[in-house]
Amino acid sequence: MTPRRYGTGDASYRAAGERDGIHRLVERFYEYMDTLPEARAIRAMHGPELARVREKLAVFLCAWLGGPNDYRARFGAISIPGFHARFAIDEAARDAWLLCMARAVGDQAWADDFKQYFLQAISVPAERCRVASVHRSLA
Ligand code: HEM
Repeated sequence: MTPRRYGTGDASYRAAGERDGIHRLVERFYEYMDTLPEARAIRAMHGPELARVREKLAVFLCAWLGGPNDYRARFGAISIPGFHARFAIDEAARDAWLLCMARAVGDQAWADDFKQYFLQAISVPAERCRVASVHRSLA
């Protein structure tokens, strides 16, 4: 049987290792944010403890990848760009966030084509956060 293409149904969710795989990704992501020198500025935008945002990002990504959508029920509705407009996200901040994500993805036992797909796809909301941040600072 031909596998379903990433981005349709729950194909991406399954390629990411479902809930456990996404939690592993997000754990590594915030470890990189906590330690990479390039991420110092974006780490400083976050509160001292990352447990809450770690859980929220993981739950968000489960839905975003086509898995169960528990985000709204657990945390309420969110617009990712709208939420991030309060932070000063320039190109360097966006790229630092994506660097942490690329390093975390590199540590996952995922298919290479899914790694590429995921990093390309996640760069879209990351760029929208930057644009929302610029608009807010001009308002
Ligand atoms: C573009 C670079 C980004 C930066 C600099 C950034 C930064 C932040 C910061 C500072 C917080 C608040 C953390 C806290 O309360 O301690 C946050 C929360 C969050 N971020 Fe991002 N973020 C970025 C991109 C993204 C993207 C692309 C997504 C999703 C695809 C995302 C999903 C989330 C979620 C779900 C939360 C939790 C929201 C809440 O507390 O209600 N972020 N982010």
